[in-house]
Amino acid sequence: MTQALTLPPGPTESRFKQAMKMGTGIYGYLSECHQKFGDAFTLRFPGMDPLVWVASPEMARDFFNLKPEQIDQRQLMIPIDIGDNQTGFLNGKEHQDSRKVMIPPLVAKRLQDRAEVMHEITTKYINAMKPGQEYDMPRLIGDITLDIACFTLLGLKDGEKQQRYRDLMLRWIQASTNDMMFLLGNVFGAPRFRGMLNRAYLKKTAKGDFGHGKKGILPWSHSVELKAQLADMMRQEVREIRASGDTSRTDLISTLSRSTYDDGTPLPEERIISESMGMLVGGHETSAATGAWFMLWLLKRPDVLKKMRDEVLQCIAQEGKFDPLKIIELPYLNACLNESQRLTPSAVGTMRHLIVDCKIGSITLPAGTNVLAGAYLIHHRKDIWGDDVEEFRPERWLEGAKPGPFEFFPFGGGRRACIGSNQAKQQLRIIFAEFARRVEFSSKYSNNDVWPGQRQVSGQTEPEGGVPVTVVKVHPETVGYPQASLAQTA
Ligand code: HEM
Repeated sequence: MTQALTLPPGPTESRFKQAMKMGTGIYGYLSECHQKFGDAFTLRFPGMDPLVWVASPEMARDFFNLKPEQIDQRQLMIPIDIGDNQTGFLNGKEHQDSRKVMIPPLVAKRLQDRAEVMHEITTKYINAMKPGQEYDMPRLIGDITLDIACFTLLGLKDGEKQQRYRDLMLRWIQASTNDMMFLLGNVFGAPRFRGMLNRAYLKKTAKGDFGHGKKGILPWSHSVELKAQLADMMRQEVREIRASGDTSRTDLISTLSRSTYDDGTPLPEERIISESMGMLVGGHETSAATGAWFMLWLLKRPDVLKKMRDEVLQCIAQEGKFDPLKIIELPYLNACLNESQRLTPSAVGTMRHLIVDCKIGSITLPAGTNVLAGAYLIHHRKDIWGDDVEEFRPERWLEGAKPGPFEFFPFGGGRRACIGSNQAKQQLRIIFAEFARRVEFSSKYSNNDVWPGQRQVSGQTEPEGGVPVTVVKVHPETVGYPQASLAQTA
């Protein structure tokens, strides 16, 4: 007789209490459960299937090596309607084919071509800063990276069309990722809620109604309205690209408009819209949250910030200017970003929904389980990182062996690893190199041990209350340039 599989142990407090604890202090609650229950534990929240967290590199290896036929990513707990034919929700061969189409516009060579523009956009924001101005760091990073996304996705840097797209994108993201939408996602179940929104959108557009952007009676109608509007702009874009036969554009929407399946059929318009919207959602809050934690660490550690700035200035002295392609290779800058993503990853875990019984480490989990590889937990293991595991010490990335893919995975891993990780790292390196070189910020978090709690924004973990900063000084664009110091000497 076969025995029914049981889930690993977990807290016995009510589902509501577990959800509250996760919502207000996810890092601490996960660590507490890890300590109490070991490397596999089960959490339960209202309206959701149980979530099994695994927290050892061996389990992470089995998790990331799960085969396509063992999982169903349509069950992902993302309550945002980007269309179910977007890479993140696809399974099996469809998923593999989709990555083949999506990855080329995001490979290193294409990104390198965009590095100058990433720098240009960052410079525009810094040049507009004045001493005394206040910013909330996640929102500032969100704004800069949204401008970069407009360029990566549509090839637009400025002008009226860029403004129209940008405004609509931001309003759609805000209407689709606010707390109410996530709450409704929990109540209905995220996949069901997503499906409801998608059907409302398809029904609307089938009637030739492409949205007017107004709020409606139902709490989700604003999101559907804005999606219809944004999708229609994208649809017209695809048609123009296809009609023009222009093959010179390298932005994502042009590349997708020209792409075909293996049999030569062009990608359907809805598919291109889905992928484009997925790129916006996939890259927006993730980058904002990662940048917010990074800034927090730099505010706490002026010694690290100085070392990072010195490295940037040295590179400028060698190159004669801020060369973004050289800057993104700087070892200490990269070590600092890695260390921030190690200690405070915005994606605390990465999920797979099992459709057959699967062995993860020494335990077998039953079909139907949602299992998460706990990046935050594995990033905090003493047996991997040493006794100083809790210390922000970028130098560890420059000494000895590098951690393996199951020890450090802020962008997930395996066949489903984040396709935007290179873009995300490149833009954050450029932004933070320029902040370090040109802007002095003060904050209630500077030089002290005061830490904010954590909150969940669009499924990402961010510092509670954001990271408020005040501009103290803005250095000129040429600071550190060889000719600038000559002029100063003269
Ligand atoms: C700091 C910023 C970012 C972080 C922390 C992040 C994190 C992640 C994580 C943890 C996953 C899940 C991987 C897995 O299941 O193993 C993921 C998937 C994904 N990300 Fe990102 N991401 C970031 C930026 C971006 C950007 C800029 C884009 C778009 C250009 C993007 C597009 C995607 C897509 C399409 C997937 C689904 C991949 C698949 O299922 O095959 N992400 N990301």
